[in-house]
Amino acid sequence: MARELAQRGYGVLVVAERGVDDAVRQLREHTAAQVTGLEVDLALPSGVEAAVARARDLGVRTFVLNAGVGVHGPFLHTPLQDELRLVDLNVRSVVHLAHLVVPDLIAAGAGRIVVVSSIAATMPAPLFSTYAASKAFLRSFAWSLRGELAGTGVTVTTILPSGTRTPFFRAAKMERTHIGRAPKASPAMVARRAVEALQDGRAEVATGLQAKAMVAIARVLPQPARAAFHGWFYAPGAPPPSSPSAPATSSE
Ligand SMILES: NC(=O)c1ccc[n+]([C@@H]2O[C@H](COP(=O)([O-])OP(=O)(O)OC[C@H]3O[C@@H](n4cnc5c(N)ncnc54)[C@H](OP(=O)(O)O)[C@@H]3O)[C@@H](O)[C@H]2O)c1
Repeated sequence: MARELAQRGYGVLVVAERGVDDAVRQLREHTAAQVTGLEVDLALPSGVEAAVARARDLGVRTFVLNAGVGVHGPFLHTPLQDELRLVDLNVRSVVHLAHLVVPDLIAAGAGRIVVVSSIAATMPAPLFSTYAASKAFLRSFAWSLRGELAGTGVTVTTILPSGTRTPFFRAAKMERTHIGRAPKASPAMVARRAVEALQDGRAEVATGLQAKAMVAIARVLPQPARAAFHGWFYAPGAPPPSSPSAPATSSE
């Protein structure tokens, strides 16, 4: 998304926990944009405050609230500290950041906020319970904030990606689940759709056909069926038969 914005002429402040220098170097190599980096832990209030302070210095008016992690597995088998860190990053940091930056955007009479939720927001997800709930929180929060900000010149756009080829699944140790093994959307396509939506000030975009299909399925299923259907994606899945490294039996 940073690259997509930089290619469209935005100056970019990249905030992440690590690897920011690399991202900044690549953006400078491939675009003519003004690029700045900041390495902070957004799961900590001090990290959010540092990011907002730098954004204020730079006069940032477009915020992409994207940092997020997944914690996979039966709820009672996952470390509590991982679950709470997920809440701190996926939920708390977005609320904190929005609370700090929205007054500046209102005062400026213009601003764009993008909240990266997920199609996981549309259905409960056994084995991925806290993540799905965090994304449902974000979707609801973003729509509510958008409603409150109507007429101020500040828009809030919710992004609902489906499975996308990023390090996300490896980081959450989900490579052997059905979703981990399934074909995924390209990050470039998701970023393009997301940035188009933010520029148009749209309320919400499900990025790609798979994402739109999941949203449509969620609309028609009753809640118990949603949980069963969606939970399948997070259960262990056999590798595709064509895979040369496929073991004879199911994984995990
Ligand atoms: N991939 C998917 O299928 C998918 C689908 C729907 C929604 N999403 C959402 O898309 C967003 C981006 O995920 P991704 O797929 O691009 O996964 P990713 O490659 O793992 O990216 C996660 C991003 O969050 C940053 N981050 C993680 N912990 C952080 C922390 N404590 N402080 C600051 N930054 C932190 C990471 O920076 P570091 O590298 O420094 O940790 C990285 O830039 C997430 O909110 C995710 O929930 C992903």
